[in-house]
Amino acid sequence: MAKGQLKRLLSTIGTAIDGGARAQEAERRAELARLHIRDGRAIPQHIAIIMDGNGRWATKRHLPRSIGHKAGVDALRRTVELCDDYHVPMLTVYAFSTENWGRPPEEVDALMGLLWETIRSDLERLHQNGVKLRHIGRFEGLSPDIQRAIRHMEDLTKDNTALTLNVCFNYGGRAEIVDAVRAIVAAGIPAEQITEDLIERYLYTSGLPDPDLVIRTAGEMRLSNYLIWQVAYAEYYSTPTLWPDFGHDDFVAALDAFAQRKRRFGKTDAQIAAEHEAEQRAKVEPAEPPVAAPSASTPSQPQPAVKGAR
Ligand code: FPP
Repeated sequence: MAKGQLKRLLSTIGTAIDGGARAQEAERRAELARLHIRDGRAIPQHIAIIMDGNGRWATKRHLPRSIGHKAGVDALRRTVELCDDYHVPMLTVYAFSTENWGRPPEEVDALMGLLWETIRSDLERLHQNGVKLRHIGRFEGLSPDIQRAIRHMEDLTKDNTALTLNVCFNYGGRAEIVDAVRAIVAAGIPAEQITEDLIERYLYTSGLPDPDLVIRTAGEMRLSNYLIWQVAYAEYYSTPTLWPDFGHDDFVAALDAFAQRKRRFGKTDAQIAAEHEAEQRAKVEPAEPPVAAPSASTPSQPQPAVKGAR
């Protein structure tokens, strides 16, 4: 066999072995994640994603950035299915930040149009699959058409329970805190009544659990003003994958990384171990029922008075 032919043959065999090894590794990671998932303690109950890299994905292909955003919607569709497959009940995505208004007008228009089109094309299917949709962000500044579409999607899906998909659109973490403070002041709430719980009730995310895991694609290591109050104790995971390429293996790798993190919420390892042991004991020996039922009256809590503070 000629030297050139042998080189080519070896290279083909090498690629096949590489591909096989990669597939095996992906399967191993998926199995690991499934094991953690069966264990039941390590599934993030709420994943928040910064979908970054649409522009780079398009540029690499000599395509307009808007095509990258379109491909980003496909990746989002896949991710919703993955959340369903892996029993992650809540997903929040960063689709348009308050800072994104500074992009070229044609890109802003493309992103606005994409939200509107996606609601139109996907809403019915998401609703049939029990997905509850919620907008997170400032309503003011969005066009009346988009505001109507958002109201309709929230209203139609409000009683769904299979999965919650929160779409951050015209969202900024600092703007959210500013809106909450304004609403608290407008409601005349005295300083001594201001607690973390109260502030949470005035955020756009009122009533939602905090994210357990933040995923950012395209290799960046920033939060970019995303859910800055809510992710105080979240685990952070960054992948070099560009958002339009994000798929099963990336998702499972993120779940796997999460499952291996030790979350201590400011406490010590020993305290966490003791709490876990107590939890396990309580599962085996359920507590005695209380002798007298506690009072049913709960003090009423102030509610947001300003519409923007949702
Ligand atoms: C960041 O990538 C991504 C965005 C600013 C928009 C994300 C939007 C989508 C995935 C689609 C719209 C979603 C819905 C729900 C309709 P980038 O453009 O900054 O990428 P780059 O850093 O590579 O330039």
